[in-house]
Amino acid sequence: MDQEQLDAVSFTMSGLRPIPVAVTTAHGGRSNGLITLSGGPASIVPEAPRAMIGITKYNFSHDLIMASGVFVMHVLGKSDEMLDDSIEIIRSLGGSSGRDGDKLAHLRTKAGVTSAPILLDSLGYVEVRVTGRYDNDENTTFYGDVVASERLGRGGKLDIGLAWAELGTAWTDEYERNHEPQVDHSRRMRGLPVHDTSSEVSS
Ligand SMILES: Cc1cc2nc3c(=O)[nH]c(=O)nc-3n(C[C@H](O)[C@H](O)[C@H](O)COP(=O)(O)O)c2cc1C
Repeated sequence: MDQEQLDAVSFTMSGLRPIPVAVTTAHGGRSNGLITLSGGPASIVPEAPRAMIGITKYNFSHDLIMASGVFVMHVLGKSDEMLDDSIEIIRSLGGSSGRDGDKLAHLRTKAGVTSAPILLDSLGYVEVRVTGRYDNDENTTFYGDVVASERLGRGGKLDIGLAWAELGTAWTDEYERNHEPQVDHSRRMRGLPVHDTSSEVSS
């Protein structure tokens, strides 16, 4: 595709999923979590809800969800009472990999019915047992039955525009830098040329 078409793709696809979701899971004594913009419902049957998320294969959470078959999707609050905790959750889970340390250690949690950790400072959550998944080469989309859910706070959901503003440019710049190896990994998984040759050497 030429640049004009790529710009049109960017325009058409950007902002379609505005709510960041904090995802947690646990397997074999290890718990972890990340932030995703891919979360959503996966059923129209109100009494038997299903949910879905897409997780990049590069991420540690991907392997843990594959192994455990469970995940928890949390939405975060934007009220004055909840905003600081919401931003702390995004900084903790979205800024580094669980392969480099326990990201949940300083967050308030309880064990869910699946044993995955529930973030007590979230606005609400659904706890999910995986029923199916789709391998999209660079990522996997997980689908599952909602087996438990709870509303933990009051007020509206944090959206990604407010989140980026509150996270600040220093954090978002570092996030962008950390994101590059993920994009290169995704290129490799799809058999595409890797643009950043330095990360090719180190992998
Ligand atoms: C706003 C935002 C959206 C993100 N969306 C996704 C996503 O849709 N899928 C994904 O796999 N990672 C996404 N990430 C990146 C992960 O949260 C990040 O790489 C995390 O450090 C992975 O941690 P892990 O290796 O411990 O699993 C997003 C991060 C942010 C801050």
